[in-house]
Parts: sequence; structure tokens; C-alpha cells
Amino acid sequence: MTISNPNPHTASADWWRQALVYQIYPRSFMDANGDGIGDLVGITSKIPYLKELGIDAIWLSPFYPSALKDGGYDVADYRDVDPKIGTLADFDDMTAACKAAGIKVIVDIVPNHSSDDHEWFQAALKAGPGSPERSRYMFRDGLGPNKDQPPADWECIFGGPAWEPVGDGQYYLHLFDASQPDLNWDHPEVRADFIKTFRFWADRGVSGFRIDVAHACAKKIDDFLGPANPHTKEEIATLCHQMLEGTLDEDAHPYLDRNEVFDIYREWRKVFNEYDPPLTAVAEAWVSSKRKPLYASADGLGQAFSFDMLMSQFDPVAFKQIIVDSLADAAKSGSSTTWVFSNHDVVRHATRHALADDGGYHETSRKYLLNKGVGPEADLALGLRRATAATMMILALPGSAYIYQGEELGLFEVADLPAEERQDPTFFRKPGVDVGRDGCRIAMPWEAEGKNMGFGPGKRPHLEQPEGYRALAVDVEDKDPRSTLNLYRKALGLRHELQCAEELEWLSDDKEVIHFKRPNGWEVLVNFGEEARAIPAGRKVALASSDLVDGAVPTDTAVWLVPA
Ligand code: GLC
Ligand code: CA
Repeated sequence: MTISNPNPHTASADWWRQALVYQIYPRSFMDANGDGIGDLVGITSKIPYLKELGIDAIWLSPFYPSALKDGGYDVADYRDVDPKIGTLADFDDMTAACKAAGIKVIVDIVPNHSSDDHEWFQAALKAGPGSPERSRYMFRDGLGPNKDQPPADWECIFGGPAWEPVGDGQYYLHLFDASQPDLNWDHPEVRADFIKTFRFWADRGVSGFRIDVAHACAKKIDDFLGPANPHTKEEIATLCHQMLEGTLDEDAHPYLDRNEVFDIYREWRKVFNEYDPPLTAVAEAWVSSKRKPLYASADGLGQAFSFDMLMSQFDPVAFKQIIVDSLADAAKSGSSTTWVFSNHDVVRHATRHALADDGGYHETSRKYLLNKGVGPEADLALGLRRATAATMMILALPGSAYIYQGEELGLFEVADLPAEERQDPTFFRKPGVDVGRDGCRIAMPWEAEGKNMGFGPGKRPHLEQPEGYRALAVDVEDKDPRSTLNLYRKALGLRHELQCAEELEWLSDDKEVIHFKRPNGWEVLVNFGEEARAIPAGRKVALASSDLVDGAVPTDTAVWLVPA
């Protein structure tokens, strides 16, 4: 029996172009069986909530078997469900419930590295140097007569050495945690296995994939290693910097943003296009904007995250430039752009925009929190006001938008988790430098007064909510017409009108506002200036992120305007 799609916005093959995707971090979403960890049955139980919110798709962060050394991004088996999170049958139930609600399912694929618990890595350890088993990973001999020196002094992204010894004269490369050995993408078995994984999930009803660290799979490290051509960690860091800046020659980095990576994605695309509608994919690629279109091309992954918004200060000139550039980048590949302010890797934007300017954004905001915490100088009310204004701006732009669980409640970053509660490897590998990412991965507050704030009926959540989350719980906000939740609900409902032709017309040269018009005739005005701005003639407000003042748009406020 085919269930007809009750959501017209996900019914066509290009549903992804302007989709509203809701990111779920499964362990922290809803714990149905009370063991303290969110699970798939919990997600299924909340589909009515998601439906009411007005989303088009969910993206699940990894739910695969994992020792959770990196929150599930250390995958031990790509084609199963972690028993701590559920079963494949639970997954099928969840997908069926989503389908009935017209909600697409996107899953996270982590191709750059597996977990060290993966059967391939365990086999590689046993088989020894030079074995075919080792060739699926990036093993190299140590340096020195006893081979007890690493092949290079490179640093991994989470801090500390990138080369881990295995005790027999060999080392393996891990760009992330030591529990995440990098795979060798020149190996045909690695390639074939991921194709099998894509089919496995697609055949279970998945519509698309989020590709983790999509810019790192292809590697040519030997040209950068060894006595003949040693590259120090400082030299690699410089290459990385130039790569992000867009000043690096092509293929001049040993493992980031190399052209061979597109061969891999072209192969995947052929498989994706065998499905009807074709499977979608979005690249998590931290590359310069001139390279971004290559990841988003139609014969490759098809779409790439634009992270510029999430790295920007709350600033109209910066935001406008990012909008112009992101739309132009997307047009180059025929893709649509992606808007995102929060995800499981960054400080929640309600808090980011509350920090003093020098707190900065993205990674610098974690350093800020580590050193200063959310002190009295951080104005959380202002942060939330700015965050909702900024969100209403991106929700009205052409392209798809990604929201992260809890942002619809206006959740703040939990900055003061005690060290013994922390789980993120960046906290442990960069002691005193990075506070880590746990503060945005706290359990959802569903009920202010319920046990575990409604997260689960049993044990305390693995990352427990602070008292301050009670006032932001779903059942509280549900009843309050002026809550962040109800603002998001209204915005997502109205947004369907904006899923029209992907064009935008700028309406004002005022440097303190962002003002544009969409082809359906709606205008969007965001005021960043101190002076309130009048509603343009012939327009009325359909939705405002904060109350108007004397009929005008006050500072740090976005309005959606329709013909009066
Ligand atoms: C991506 C994920 C992040 C993870 C890393 C390694 O950046 O978003 O959470 O730690 O890849 O897999
Ligand atoms: Ca559970």
C-alpha cells in the first residue's frame, strides 16, 4: 500500500531544495525506555510534535552501534542500530511514522573514519603490518631505527597527536579522536562497502544523507611524509588556513579538499539517482566558498552546508554579504543553499549572540565560555531576541533551512557542566583550551514538572537539563502564545508560502537593516539599528520576532510583511 504524502512540500523530487530540516541528536531527544539515553522509540513518540512544528524532514545524527567516544561519530557498524538506542525494527517503525506524516528521513553517514571497534579495524590490528586488513586504514611505519617515532608530528582536529602507535612499529592516522581511525578511500572494498550502506538505508525508506567531514576522505599523505618531504604540524596548519581562505593551490593539502574526493561522490551520485526520487545528500565541508559548489554539484552530493551564518557575528553588513555570496555559490552548481545557525557542534545561537563581541562565534565562543562562562555580562534575553530575529531572517530566504533540536524552545548553551559530566573528546584532548560541545547536547525538556523534565521515565538523562530549562519546556511554551516555540510554529507554517521561486530582491540600502522581497510578494525586514523602523507603506505584519513598538520595528527584530 502506498501512503499518499500528506505534506505537499515534500511530495516532489526536488523537495530538498527549500526543505525545513530538523536535526535530531538521538541520545538527547527522548528516552522512551528510561535508561537515561534517548532512543528511536522516543523519536517516534514525538513525531506528532514535529508534525505540528511544521518541518519537512528530520536529520538524525548517528544512531549506529558505537562506544560513544565521539557522540556516535565513532561508528562500529554502519548498517545497524546501537542497542542503547533501539533496533532496526524501531528504525522501520520510526520511518513508517515519518512517512505517514509526510516527513522525510535523512541519516548521517561518517565516511572519513570508523570506530576502532569496527570489525575491519579489529582485524587490521590482529593481522599486523603489511597485511591487506591494514590497507583499509591509513597505517604507516614509525620513524627511527626502532620505528617508535610517529610518521609525523601532525595534530588531530580534537587536539593532540594525529598518529597513534599500535605497538608493532606502525601508527594509524586519525584526524579526530584516537578511537576514530581514518579509512583509506583508495581501497575498493572501502568504496564498495559505503555503497552497500547507502542502499541499506535507502531500501529502509531513508530519503537522503548528511555526509560527515565530506572534504577529508581523499588523501595523498605520502607526498607530505617521510624524510624526503617532511611536513610539520605548523606547515599542515598553514595549508589548512590557506585552504579555508581559498588561496591554496589545488591538491596541495595532504588530506583536505582534494579533487579526488569528487570521484567518490560521482560514484555515489550514480547510486543515489537509481532511486525515485533520487536520494539527496548534503556535504559537511569546511572549505573555501570558491570550492563549495564542487561539493554541491548535481553529479556529486547535490548540496553543501553553508556555515558562514553560523560563524558570523550578529551584523547586518556581514549577514547581507553572506546571503549574496551563498546564493551565488549555490547558483554556480545549480543547487540551493542551506541556512544554519545551530547544530550539535557549535554553541547554541541564543547564547552565541548573547556573548560580548570578543566572545566571537563558533569555536571561539567555546573558548570564551571556558574562560569566562556565561557571566552577568552575557545578556541571555538579548541573545534569544537576536537569535529569533536572525532565524526568522534565514527562514524567509530561498534555500533549505536546518534547525537543531531545542532551538525552537530558545534553549541556551549549558556552559557550566562539571568536568565529570562532560563527554566530548575535545574537552579532554584540549584541556584548558576548549570547553567542548556537550553544552548544546543536553537532554530536551519536554515537561517542566515531569520526571527528568519529561525526557524519560527512568534514569536521569545522560546530559541532564539545568533548572533553567524548566521555563523553556515544551509543555510550558506550548501554552504560551508568545513563546519561542509558538513563534517557530507560526514561522514554519507561513514559510510554506515562501517555498516559491528561489529569488530575492533587495529593497533597501540602509546599512542597519536587511530588507528583501520574495517572488510571492512578501517582504522581510530585520532591524539591527537602535532606531525603530517604520513598516513600509502598503504592508502589514504577518509575523514578528519581537513585539512592535508604537507600530514600528524595534531593534534586533525581524518582521515578515504581506500586502496590506
Ligand atoms: C563532524 C561532526 C562532529 C564530529 C566530527 C567527526 O564535524 O559534525 O560532531 O565530531 O565530524 O566525525
Ligand atoms: Ca533509552
